[in-house]
Amino acid sequence: MYTQAMDTLREEGGDKPALRTAEEAQLQQRFDNRIDAGEFIEAKDWMPENYRKTLLRQISQHAHSEIVGMLPEGNWITRAPTLKRKAILLAKVQDEGGHGLYLYAAAETLGTSRDQMLDALHSGKAKYSSIFNYPTLTWADVGAIGWLVDGAAIMNQVPICRCSFAPYARAMVRICREESFHQRQGYDSLLVMMKEGTEAQRAMVQEAVNRWWWPCLMMFGPPDDQSPNSVQGMRWGIKRVSNDTLRQKFVDAAMQQAEVLGVTFPDPDLRWNEATGHWDYGAIDWSEFWRVVGGEGPCNRERLAARVRAWEEGEWVREAALAHARKFDLKEAA
Ligand SMILES: [Fe+2]
Ligand SMILES: [Fe+2]
Repeated sequence: MYTQAMDTLREEGGDKPALRTAEEAQLQQRFDNRIDAGEFIEAKDWMPENYRKTLLRQISQHAHSEIVGMLPEGNWITRAPTLKRKAILLAKVQDEGGHGLYLYAAAETLGTSRDQMLDALHSGKAKYSSIFNYPTLTWADVGAIGWLVDGAAIMNQVPICRCSFAPYARAMVRICREESFHQRQGYDSLLVMMKEGTEAQRAMVQEAVNRWWWPCLMMFGPPDDQSPNSVQGMRWGIKRVSNDTLRQKFVDAAMQQAEVLGVTFPDPDLRWNEATGHWDYGAIDWSEFWRVVGGEGPCNRERLAARVRAWEEGEWVREAALAHARKFDLKEAA
């Protein structure tokens, strides 16, 4: 722990508890000042325990979401309609694996091992984005995920590039660049089907969009007035923009893109609001969100089982990599 090392250095006078408290108060004050000044916090810097815990939870959940997010689309790699689409999808799914790795590495700087984080995922203790508990029934789902799910992810993630914890912010800069490609490829794939496809293909796109729309709006999290943790996240500079503001930005952008594409969203309350300059949308069914978060979504069990199986079947790869690393270390030492 960084705090103990620093406390030990400054312990004087024998009144340890009081001095320790004063010391912590000073460190806390310096930390708050740095946050207020918009400075970045590095892994080696002192930070309050709750800040560390909150970040660890958020970054590891984010990492889990990236690797679980490989599963719904990974299903379609062998069934992509053309070589070009297959190559694009392979690259996209591989990117998501890379995002997971950057994020696990960022989370590890907070003092928890990757094995511990994966253990929490496999035992069901840790969460991941509930959007990945929905199925990919047709090829149009792959396009809809790129357009809407990656689109919502971009809205959520761009502000994290300015997160106060530097290793997370740095990882997000790289991730966001790749997410733009993910969204473009999804939109392009749907555009081809809508503009050059058959009637059946257009219907398939609309049907996929109908299924993804509401879960995508849920990706931004509960409404601001029911999201008490957001306030602390904002105070710490971990969260920069509120859930409802991001959701509204997403709806506004998606409405324009839907018009070009020629699809509609399954919400009769969607209408332009002249006074606010935004699109109004209907009530979100939060009971569905909590049900899926709670493990009762259409694919929760399947997704978790796939991750556990991959972990077990990959054991020989981890063993081989470790054996190779040991051999390399021995050679270096000789
Ligand atoms: Fe990603
Ligand atoms: Fe992505």
